[in-house]
Amino acid sequence: MCGIVAAVAQRNVQNILLEGLKRLEYRGYDSAGMAVRSPEGELVRQRAVGKVAALEARLEGSALPGLSGIAHTRWATHGRPSEPNAHPHQSRDRLAVVHNGIIENHEQLRRELTDQGYVFESETDTEVIAHLLERESRRDGDLLSAFQRVVAGLDGAYALGVMAVDEPDVVVGARKGSPLVVGVGIGEAFLASDPLALLPVTDRFIYLREGDVVRLSANGRIEIFDAEGTAVEREVQTFEHGDGAASKGEYRHFMLKEIHEQPAVIAAALEGRLGDRSVLVESFGPDAERLFQQVRQIHIVACGTSYHAGMVARYWLERYTGIPVQVEVASEYRYRQVVVPQGTLFVTLSQSGETADTLAALRFAMEQDNYLGSLGICNVPGSSLVREADLSLMTQAGPEIGVASTKAFTTQLTALMLFALALGRVRGMDEDEQAEIVAALRTLPALCSQVLGLDEAIERLSMAFAEKHHALFLGRGAHFPIAQEGALKLKEISYIHAEAYPAGELKHGPLALVDSEMPVISVAPNDELLDKLKSNLQEVRARGGELYVFADENVGLNASEGIQVLHLPHVHEALAPILYTLPLQLLSYHVAVLKGTDVDQPRNLAKSVTVE
Ligand code: G6P
Repeated sequence: MCGIVAAVAQRNVQNILLEGLKRLEYRGYDSAGMAVRSPEGELVRQRAVGKVAALEARLEGSALPGLSGIAHTRWATHGRPSEPNAHPHQSRDRLAVVHNGIIENHEQLRRELTDQGYVFESETDTEVIAHLLERESRRDGDLLSAFQRVVAGLDGAYALGVMAVDEPDVVVGARKGSPLVVGVGIGEAFLASDPLALLPVTDRFIYLREGDVVRLSANGRIEIFDAEGTAVEREVQTFEHGDGAASKGEYRHFMLKEIHEQPAVIAAALEGRLGDRSVLVESFGPDAERLFQQVRQIHIVACGTSYHAGMVARYWLERYTGIPVQVEVASEYRYRQVVVPQGTLFVTLSQSGETADTLAALRFAMEQDNYLGSLGICNVPGSSLVREADLSLMTQAGPEIGVASTKAFTTQLTALMLFALALGRVRGMDEDEQAEIVAALRTLPALCSQVLGLDEAIERLSMAFAEKHHALFLGRGAHFPIAQEGALKLKEISYIHAEAYPAGELKHGPLALVDSEMPVISVAPNDELLDKLKSNLQEVRARGGELYVFADENVGLNASEGIQVLHLPHVHEALAPILYTLPLQLLSYHVAVLKGTDVDQPRNLAKSVTVE
């Protein structure tokens, strides 16, 4: 998804902007660009289709020196990826704009501006902003007040960075519906859509609120105005995660690094939340116990991998709390006539906390009667979701760079298990059962490390998939959503068509697809559905299907003709969905490497989908 970096500094900003863009590459994009105010007082710009490296190559040929500038990575929405559509967009060489989000009334504005003599060079919605600003700044010359008038007339979502030839050392920005942070430097100030972009220059950030407008000027001056135009003070927060997260270290890809971080981040997600025999309900916030006591129903809403985490949680929550749970993808939920029984808790899950559909669903839910309140389970402190939900639980995975989510998913599952147990505790769950799961949670990081030790064996297994065009994933119970997540990983990074089915549904359709060209992957932990799963696997074998099974070492499933088995250490049944995710992640990773795809930035996908 699009990324913004901007700077007003006491040094040449070109490399600060370029480094910032590289750090935003993980979000997914198709072109990049930069504009600075040159020492001669002109706006100069470079743009390139493709990777930031292509822009860097252009800059090598023709540098953009200057003390203030704006830069962007674009993920095409209006108009295909092309140089004229890449940001920054300019108007009459006087103003330059970078924009994340979507301007919904751009067509009407474009007609109006065209009638007034403005010539459009791109198909984007963004270009209207540049021309509107040009028109407004002619009225009284002041960029900030022109900008405030312009944003007041924009419908839709935006994070913006703007500079003008007439105002040296000034960048203005605004956010509504898309994230934007101010980086506080020493005598310098920055803007970015994600703090990660600015970690080389500062670890101090102001997270702008909805409707805020900001003006950065010389000597690090930062002025912020709320949606009404009133000057406001916003808290400066120190970024908590170490910068190590932004480099691959010894690993070939971020995804592999993040897979291997799981023992450590699952331990971090548990930290401070486990008592001797139970989960500490207070770790959900001072109001949690009172709120949890009133819960009669739960709605879980999320997108993508986060949605799969919600699907797993339904099995846990219903089992340990007896509370009915509905799980739904945000893009459907937000446009449905939802029925909300009294006492329903709204739970939303998001790695980024900025996914447009998930945020819209949260806002939509909070407008309905009957919801008790909202819990946001999220990985990014200071994100919109965390700020807007009543209660929040951080997943502590640290920045996740690979577009295909891995450690964010298993830490979400860990947080959801904590939530199920906390709610169970308040609702009279059997204390011994809770104590048993809490003890098992303590051993989970070590078990994950053991499973990661299967890496080489899984790499060997992956060779069977590189030439395949389809794959089927099977699971039962809470492992059905794990099978779905396994299929999603394979699709996302290796571009192999993969589908997941609850194993019991096999006879109702997918069995027709099974032959020697259709590998079937299954997870077989030692749970109450094991015998049923074994019969389902026999059905596959009987049709000549090749089976790849990840099985508990104690269940007596061994390799035989047409069945490859990798054994996992025994794990408490409740936690098996977390552990069995890891081999599926490794399998997709190795298949993708064999196929030579762009593992960390798969085609057409974005890390954080901040537009609808
Ligand atoms: C995109 C990402 C997925 C992610 C989904 C939801 O599609 O590529 O990996 O699961 O968005 O993102 P969120 O940040 O809300 O969890």
